[in-house]
Amino acid sequence: MNAESFTGSESYLRRAHQVIPRGVNSSRRSVLRPAPLAFSGARGSRITDIDGNEYVDYVAGYGPMLLGHQPPEVVEAVRTQLAAGVLYGGQHEAEAELAERIVRMVPGAERVLLNVTGSEAVQAALRIARAATGRRKTVKFEGHYHGWIDPMTANGPGSPAGTGPAPRPMIAADHDVVGPEILVCPWNDSEALAGLLARHGADVAAVIMEPVAVNGGNLWADDGYLATARRLCERHGCLLVFDEVVTGFRLAPGGAQQRTGVTPDLTVLAKALGSGFPISAVAGRAEVMRVAEHTVGHAGTYNGNAVSVVAANATLDVLETGQDSLYPRLDRLTGELADGIARLAARHGAPLQALRAGALLRLHWGAPEPLRTYADTLAGRTAPLRDFSEHMVRNGVHARETGLWYVSTAHTDDDVDRTLAAVDRALAAISGPSAG
Ligand SMILES: Cc1ncc(COP(=O)(O)O)c(C=O)c1O
Repeated sequence: MNAESFTGSESYLRRAHQVIPRGVNSSRRSVLRPAPLAFSGARGSRITDIDGNEYVDYVAGYGPMLLGHQPPEVVEAVRTQLAAGVLYGGQHEAEAELAERIVRMVPGAERVLLNVTGSEAVQAALRIARAATGRRKTVKFEGHYHGWIDPMTANGPGSPAGTGPAPRPMIAADHDVVGPEILVCPWNDSEALAGLLARHGADVAAVIMEPVAVNGGNLWADDGYLATARRLCERHGCLLVFDEVVTGFRLAPGGAQQRTGVTPDLTVLAKALGSGFPISAVAGRAEVMRVAEHTVGHAGTYNGNAVSVVAANATLDVLETGQDSLYPRLDRLTGELADGIARLAARHGAPLQALRAGALLRLHWGAPEPLRTYADTLAGRTAPLRDFSEHMVRNGVHARETGLWYVSTAHTDDDVDRTLAAVDRALAAISGPSAG
């Protein structure tokens, strides 16, 4: 399953570049090597480019395709809905059904509002937090990503503009305020958070975090860290917001908050919620969400569009009813990939580690072990990881240059075998005295 020619993708990019800046519609898509690929189709765990190369896909649409491409239950629900209309500019019954499911599945969800993208649901959550507390500031964490809308890009991967081949965001010096309302704190450092809130807590509406720092390197919180953050928020009257855009439904039916046992005041959900159909949600405690009854405006032409909502209902139905077998299987496959990569890295003498969180892997090259903080991840090297990813693509595995891999329920044991064979070949191609 080698990918040999990329001329179709290359010539498509040249054409697109005449009319689309960079030739792509999300900046980082332009950096994939050996070429930013253009695709013609995808099914299950596989994706095919316009040159006819087929790949085992771990990009998964940047995460939403937890059930793989074209899950039959979702396709069927969408097909049926298309015949009944897409957008009503009014209510339809599937909306409340979806909110009820989310309330059932996600521990912190008592009320739910729908949006379209993760970025805007983050904005809705922060607006709700400001209204509920009467305060203006937000604390975020180094390396955590909360979408592309200002000012949340501060100090996330790729900040400030989310562009460029190898972004190395600055680390906040002494928790400086980045922009007037955003305070940036190091991750996994309880004392730093306590100190920051001691100084600014009275002005802080929300402490927002990825409860597993996926974009900051796929770092689990240290034991007790989330519970400490929860307690500090209570002490200072701030709301704890979990951005579960990636981890929601992926780590467990109830996301990272189910896995860690720490319940936030507000939760942002997107990606896996819709199996690729654009939909996001902000969910939270009824008492907090009550401001959306009166004080907080919430809008969006496409909010609750019928096609995305039925796709989300079908997705959550599969995850909820199949949870006893699906999640253990995802864990097993992801574990086999992680273990296999570690084994092959050792055999090739490559300083490659694969951090694992549920059905997520994050590869790091040349970083210290164990990895705990975002600063640790910045010690890793991006150039060999990009070379490695390029060789993975050439060996039939669609994997991002950032090293973030999404595993889906459609992946099979055969996919894992093929992937590990590709890892072996990729490491053989790049390992050597100069690679370490
Ligand atoms: C944790 C997290 N939050 C928010 C977002 C933004 O979501 P979207 O790209 O749907 O706007 C992302 C996107 O990758 C994300 O990873």
